[in-house]
Amino acid sequence: MKVLLIGGGGREHTLADAISRSLLLTHLYCAPGNGGIAQVATCVEIDPEDIPAILRFVDETAIDLTVVGPERPLIMGLADRLRAEGKLVYGPSAAAARLEGSKAFTDELLAKYDLTAKAFEVFDNPEDAGSYVRERGAPIVVKADGDAFGKGVKVCTDVEEALDFVDAVMVRKEFGAAGERVVIEDCLVGEECTIKVFTDGDVVVPMVPSQDHKRIGENDTGLNTGGMGCYSPVPSVDEATERDIVDNIIIPTVRAMREEGTPYTGTLYGGCILTDEGPELIEYNCRFGDPETQVVIPRLDSDLLQVLVATAEEKLDGVELDWSGRAAACVVVASGGYPGSYEKGKRISGLDEADAMDDVKVFHAGTAIENGEYYTAGGRVLGVTALGDDYDEAFDRAYAAIDKIQFDGMYFRRDIGWRARTSTG
Ligand code: GLY
Repeated sequence: MKVLLIGGGGREHTLADAISRSLLLTHLYCAPGNGGIAQVATCVEIDPEDIPAILRFVDETAIDLTVVGPERPLIMGLADRLRAEGKLVYGPSAAAARLEGSKAFTDELLAKYDLTAKAFEVFDNPEDAGSYVRERGAPIVVKADGDAFGKGVKVCTDVEEALDFVDAVMVRKEFGAAGERVVIEDCLVGEECTIKVFTDGDVVVPMVPSQDHKRIGENDTGLNTGGMGCYSPVPSVDEATERDIVDNIIIPTVRAMREEGTPYTGTLYGGCILTDEGPELIEYNCRFGDPETQVVIPRLDSDLLQVLVATAEEKLDGVELDWSGRAAACVVVASGGYPGSYEKGKRISGLDEADAMDDVKVFHAGTAIENGEYYTAGGRVLGVTALGDDYDEAFDRAYAAIDKIQFDGMYFRRDIGWRARTSTG
């Protein structure tokens, strides 16, 4: 089977690594890929948002399955265009990807099907949004309705901050068209976790839970990032909590999408918060998470490609997955300055040595390869992942691997997994 994977980050390196080990695979291509993905796939210089170029490549190369990593091409309708040409694709239609692409759509769907207890309102003008913020008070959450590259959501601790963010979204248009509407939600308190599932629009097959650290600084402080580290399993998510989230939020959402005439297929990522009243959904994403994938997929003992094919072919019924009981830890190594401005093109040393360690895998997020040498090419550069018999062993291995890696200005948090670990290494 010839597979085309769309994307070029740490998530895609993790997926590429697992797909490359499948018995079903004859050749793996990745568009555009990165320095690490190039070890296991043929990287092709196609922009993930260049839908005509992807369609051409799939046709000319006789690709059997296209797996879409990032959300943007899905929201733009890549999966619809491929399906319209009779191609097999892993990922939801544009209508289904609204679960990530429109915060208002998701909140309204959850409310319609009685899947949320949280108060929220949707506004298409800043005056009414401002009045509502003043009426509700703080803390309060302000979300740009559309896809704003993960930057359009702010948890505001006071009313002034919330009013300023409404202004940033709707008046200063800092997120462009994503800010035509805002969603204002009550702020929920509790520990966060992520449950992802494979779904073919009908059957739901859960993956193991994970938890990431979004802030750049230690003690979960500073600016939000795409994620600075992650682990799986999650101590606060026992089997009953996981079942509660899957049975009472995710499966009913999949049913609701079907009922609405827009069945959801692919990975559904539920970002949840464990409140005193029970789990609540805070966001859906229409893709695998990054760096959540880096700790979830290494725990999958089943053949990933077989699951992706079964999902895309709507044949998940009866599929059971084997998961390792071990702990997985991922620490993201970033370029100095991230998530603000940073330099690229720094030579990275020690990658082979780190990768050669037992139970360690260095997933590349923002790297490029030139004459056999690796260079930094992004904000998040590497996701150093390790398995262990417990959290301490997994994190100690990941940090020992990072000790072997070096590039100018490299930055990583030393406290990833603090909730789960008994020691800090
Ligand atoms: N790590 C958060 C995300 O993938 O959206």
